[in-house]
Amino acid sequence: MSPNAASEPVIAFEGVRISFDEGEALRGINLRVAPQETKILVGETGSGKTLLLKLAAGLLRPDAGRVVVLGQEISAMREKDLLDFRRQIGFVFQEGALFDSLSVEENVAYRLREEGADEAEIEERVREALRFVELEHAIDKLPGELSGGMRRRVSIARALISAPPIVLYDSPTAGLDPVTAQTIITLILRLRDTHGVTALLATHRLQDAFAMAHYRFDPESGRVAPVAPNGASAGPMTSFAVLCDGAVYFEGDHRAIAECQDSYVQKFLV
Ligand SMILES: Nc1ncnc2c1ncn2[C@@H]1O[C@H](COP(=O)(O)OP(=O)(O)OP(=O)(O)O)[C@@H](O)[C@H]1O
Ligand SMILES: [Mg+2]
Repeated sequence: MSPNAASEPVIAFEGVRISFDEGEALRGINLRVAPQETKILVGETGSGKTLLLKLAAGLLRPDAGRVVVLGQEISAMREKDLLDFRRQIGFVFQEGALFDSLSVEENVAYRLREEGADEAEIEERVREALRFVELEHAIDKLPGELSGGMRRRVSIARALISAPPIVLYDSPTAGLDPVTAQTIITLILRLRDTHGVTALLATHRLQDAFAMAHYRFDPESGRVAPVAPNGASAGPMTSFAVLCDGAVYFEGDHRAIAECQDSYVQKFLV
């Protein structure tokens, strides 16, 4: 059992349901994310991954059930309190969602300016966040002047500007070539292993998710290194939830999912 398994989850979905005109999109979801765990959400298009991330950020409310984040029932929170609450959450949206008419600096600083932080502090924190994603040199560029991978890195910098304990990643490597996808994965590993971030990460690409379960960022060497095969308890906590049509179809660690013989689960393994 992992050391954190007994502690309170950082994110908990309890019997969560949500419906739209077309019918029920989430059908009684129960999921828990432990402190410093990365929970990977896999599932075909329309299975409910983005909905879960939006619920965890308080951008949506469930029709039934509870969403509890950092000990607070956000599904019952007033809009005004949710604004404060969201400071603790970094959201890397599916399409990057940068403001095209704003520079990289303005995109990354957006939240701090809205909160009325002072300009000297903003400058320092924006530079720090851009340094983290190795894009300090692009500070004055517009999103349209950047490659897809660079834009994704800017959205990661924007998500971590307020040093949130929770980061939600929606398909962070989608549409990127394998080399660029690897740089994004390395960044996510760095955040997990140097900042102790708790994360929910939606993806179609299970091979990226396996990289997170098998590798860790070593702050001493500044490199990504394999987790010792016999040192599972010392490794990062990564677990998987496979969604199918708005329900949790399978849950387990990387070994369990790799060994799972179910044909729906196997579709994501290739
Ligand atoms: N605002 C909305 N109005 C109506 N239906 C919605 C809305 N948001 C999501 N849905 C429906 O809920 C279901 C789940 O959507 P969701 O965006 O969570 O899928 P997903 O797993 O993220 O898919 P993808 O892999 O394509 O990103 C889909 O059937 C979608 O059409
Ligand atoms: Mg989605």
